[in-house]
Amino acid sequence: MTDIKNYISQNKDRFIDELIELLKIPSVSADAAHKPDMLKTADAVKKSLEDAGCDKVEICETPGNPIVYGEKIIDASLPTVLVYGHYDVQPADPVELWDSPAFEPVIKKTEIHPEGAIFARGSCDDKGQFYMHVKALEYMTTQDQLPCNVKFMIEGEEEVGSSSLDWFVRRNQEKLTNDVILISDTGMISNTQPSITTGLRGLSYVEVEVTGPNRDLHSGLYGGAVANPINILAKMLAALHDENNHITIPSFYDKVLEASDEERKEMAKAPFSLDAYKKSIDLGDVYGEEGYSTLERASIRPTLDVNGIWGGYIEEGAKTVIPSKAYAKISMRLVPNQTSDEITTLFTKHFENIAPKSVSVKVTPHHGGEAYVTPIDNIGYRAANKAYTETFGVQAIPQRSGGSIPIVALFEQELKSKTILMGFGLDSDAIHSPNEHFGIFNYLKGIETIPLFFKYFTEMS
Ligand code: BES
Ligand code: MN
Ligand code: MN
Repeated sequence: MTDIKNYISQNKDRFIDELIELLKIPSVSADAAHKPDMLKTADAVKKSLEDAGCDKVEICETPGNPIVYGEKIIDASLPTVLVYGHYDVQPADPVELWDSPAFEPVIKKTEIHPEGAIFARGSCDDKGQFYMHVKALEYMTTQDQLPCNVKFMIEGEEEVGSSSLDWFVRRNQEKLTNDVILISDTGMISNTQPSITTGLRGLSYVEVEVTGPNRDLHSGLYGGAVANPINILAKMLAALHDENNHITIPSFYDKVLEASDEERKEMAKAPFSLDAYKKSIDLGDVYGEEGYSTLERASIRPTLDVNGIWGGYIEEGAKTVIPSKAYAKISMRLVPNQTSDEITTLFTKHFENIAPKSVSVKVTPHHGGEAYVTPIDNIGYRAANKAYTETFGVQAIPQRSGGSIPIVALFEQELKSKTILMGFGLDSDAIHSPNEHFGIFNYLKGIETIPLFFKYFTEMS
């Protein structure tokens, strides 16, 4: 038997090589052309779980991409930890902005990661992070350190809304019974200050289409006399926020659970430098809802953002045309008590209401999900904090995140268990962006911290 630190130093290169192999498969769930890669990745994940010591591993078919399920049940009277992760990744686009190809992983040192970071799509979100759990399991099974039962559920559609996982969870409550759900798919404050994510925002996502004339028109012959759908769309979008950057959709804030002064005071204690924040993304100033700090705007407040907008002529040169149609994709991040369906309905009504008669509008909802908050007085949180305190030498700070993992709220509803979000990524790791990377330090620290969570959770149970 060897301890985790020794085990990691003896196996470090192999751990990195294995992750690199996984990152080479372009498992982009948004693109149907990658279906074979999804299956190939699921197979690789299955094999990794078998090698790490799971007794039973299966590829579960779903209406979409398969879910890899694995388990090692050592004693039914002991607690069970369910590990969730996703093997699908975001598209690499825009590919020309990557310094090296997205699916040819390379290790490079950066200012924030002096020990080096693995650059590849999915390195941090989420292959690198769920693979820490696979390697932690390998340590626990080979070194006789597994203190409880463990189940793994690694899905392939997180980046496109998890609809197959929703389907799977509703049909497999029994199989998925657990005492706590453990996920590494979020971030932490810094490599010297760990944090535990205690909240996620919900999401409502819509696409809008504004139609003017029934065909593209000559902008000289018709210009000035008919509504240009792009002009109108721009006006309508601009009207969705007021001068204080509040969202103008009637009743949008009605159900928002306001954070108490106490909670806001706690939040303000988290280490955060506005200057460093601005510098890291080259901004002259921040921008957002009046009355809230940057950290609050990006976590406990709901938002509305245009994610894409198009229409008309965008090729080379000039074409004088009034387009027939204009489009936009809009995401709204939601906070506890707002519900995705309700917000989508409020948006749709409002958007139809503010459209002038000279155009028609169509709103198409996409996938959504509910927000999640977890208290910090449960054994899951305490076990995680104890684990971090041991491996980082400082306590973890609870912090609500602005991102969304919609399936977490469903886990609570269907499986009746709390989720502990032990993320090891950094905001600067560029998830969803070109040059996504994951620090070697973070990867190995995750592998070191996870077995301690298992140990303390079992002890406290
Ligand atoms: N892992 C992210 C979510 C995340 C990242 C939460 C960092 C907190 C900190 C996840 O893969 C993701 O990208 N989620 C999507 C939502 C999904 C429905 C497409 C998101 O937040 O945009
Ligand atoms: Mn993710
Ligand atoms: Mn993601």
